[in-house]
Amino acid sequence: MEPTIAAKAEKVKVTFLPRDTTTRVPAGTTLFHAAAWTGQPIESTCGGRGTCGKCRVQIVGGAAPVTPADLEHLAQEEIDCGWRLSCQAEVRSEMVVQVPRLLTTPKTAMFGVGRQVLLDPNVHKVHLKLTEPTLHDQRSDYQRLKDALRAEGFAMTATLPVLRTLPKTLRESDFDVTAVLCGDSLIAVEPGDTKTACYGIAFDLGTTTIVGTLLDLNSGEARAVASTLNAQAIHGGDVLSRISYTMGKKEGLDELQHLIAFTFNGIIERLCGDSGVPPSQIYEMTVAGNLTMMHLLMGIDPEPISVTPFASAAAHGIELRAGDLGITTHPEGRIYLFPAIGAYVGGDIVAGLLATAVPRGGRLRLFIDVGTNGEIALGHEQRTVATAAPAGPAFEGAEISCGMRATTGAIEGVQITDDAVVLQTIDDAPPVGLCGSGLVDVVAQLYRRGFLDATGRMRSAAEVGPGVPETLARRLVNVGGLRAFTLATAEETGGRPVLFTQKDVRQLQFAKGSIAAGIKVLMKVMGVAPGDLHEVLLAGAFGSYIHPDAARLIGLVPAVPLDRIRAVGNAAGEGAKIALLSYREREAAEAMPGRVDYIELSGREDFNDIFMGVLGFPPLDSLP
Ligand code: FES
Repeated sequence: MEPTIAAKAEKVKVTFLPRDTTTRVPAGTTLFHAAAWTGQPIESTCGGRGTCGKCRVQIVGGAAPVTPADLEHLAQEEIDCGWRLSCQAEVRSEMVVQVPRLLTTPKTAMFGVGRQVLLDPNVHKVHLKLTEPTLHDQRSDYQRLKDALRAEGFAMTATLPVLRTLPKTLRESDFDVTAVLCGDSLIAVEPGDTKTACYGIAFDLGTTTIVGTLLDLNSGEARAVASTLNAQAIHGGDVLSRISYTMGKKEGLDELQHLIAFTFNGIIERLCGDSGVPPSQIYEMTVAGNLTMMHLLMGIDPEPISVTPFASAAAHGIELRAGDLGITTHPEGRIYLFPAIGAYVGGDIVAGLLATAVPRGGRLRLFIDVGTNGEIALGHEQRTVATAAPAGPAFEGAEISCGMRATTGAIEGVQITDDAVVLQTIDDAPPVGLCGSGLVDVVAQLYRRGFLDATGRMRSAAEVGPGVPETLARRLVNVGGLRAFTLATAEETGGRPVLFTQKDVRQLQFAKGSIAAGIKVLMKVMGVAPGDLHEVLLAGAFGSYIHPDAARLIGLVPAVPLDRIRAVGNAAGEGAKIALLSYREREAAEAMPGRVDYIELSGREDFNDIFMGVLGFPPLDSLP
């Protein structure tokens, strides 16, 4: 029986001309946001707030009621001919909409995952020459600014800290100022014309590593990149140990929050130092991270995420004041945290799906981010499903007798030739142990060469037979009653030999079995087979280094032709950049949890059988 999927709002079909792109959106979605989902560019400067009047479209099939903003920005004849402001018109029934060509050629930016995105950041700088107050014009400074911004098509609200700066800044600059808007929040008023200095940072907030990219919001170009270990790592390597830390110590949560802010601030300092951009010109940040990291960044108790039924305190997209989190950019700068799809399919995966556009594409694609949890999504524009499979730490080198992190001396590639073992190590250093990609390689090679059978049992030297040369056969040894394969002898390492044991094979089988079972469940839910997959996308550091043929050989990924398996690198980081540079794309990320069905594996009666069925390796002659 299929698990219950949270009821989603009724979906309604909308078609955009002249591109003839069709999508289905939850009833009540605005045409502007529906268009953003399909990547259809609609003119706008206000980001869908109903103030710029530029997002007009003509409804040629279906209908939308006239809104106050339509009456303000459109002529009656236009309204009669079906013209509406797309950011105000909601899709309630099937619609066909004609989108005018863009008036100007928009700037675009290209991303590492091969996506071209319109530059349309949430931060706007508007240069204003305000009329000075007189006895006949006694409007307040606030109103004066608000009216001038409205004339430029921007709405605005201002908080007390900004209001406090207004009288002095306006008068000292002879009312020649630049208003800095983040959405419709006025976050600063700067003297003179400062439009060319406008920056943001996209953060990939990993449990282990945090990466920040400083982007010029005018050009979309990266000005500096910096990464460092998450300072929280001293309190545990994975999310569960971090959660335990907050549970076991009264000040634990505060401590972890400060450690993330501390790491962010260190990165900001380096980015500013490398680029010469002052922190005061960084107005917005986007953060893609798993749900636990997001909770810890906000200082919210993450404990409920770790216990069934895994209901978090907050999983929606959140915009906060950076200063409230102790982050040292512009004090009124904003920080946007991606929404999550489920407790273990977090904002990092939403960002990855945004970058790869899996739920918005026309063809069926499988997205896999392998780590302690394997996060998996499968789908296309009609339907996308996602899940998290608990792989355990084997792929990160833990629980493997010779396992290690991907640092100097880690074996990252293994090839067993007819008579030798060829190792590829990080920094070409003498081999010390195996990291995740080496682990997948060694098992694939041992299986291909007959040292492992399809159940994962390691054969003895006698069993592999006379066909195997002595140079390889003698590498099969017995250590304390456990069969093992010698990857590197003591002479080759200059120290202890690197042995890969039968137990290690089993650990790998459990980890890959968990992910393979998760994939199989999603394929079952979607009613598709490996042959239907247009692409398999491997995300994250592990996905970048893993050899696709080895992953396929051990059954970690479905049996598809090798040219359909593609590494997409740090998709979460790319998604964070895209959301920083494009407000419309951020809208698409916001819509993701409502468009992607989360499948909970632990609630499925068929999971165990599926898991047991994929623990072994696929028959060698079954691969395409
Ligand atoms: S009025 Fe600006 S986007 Fe609709």
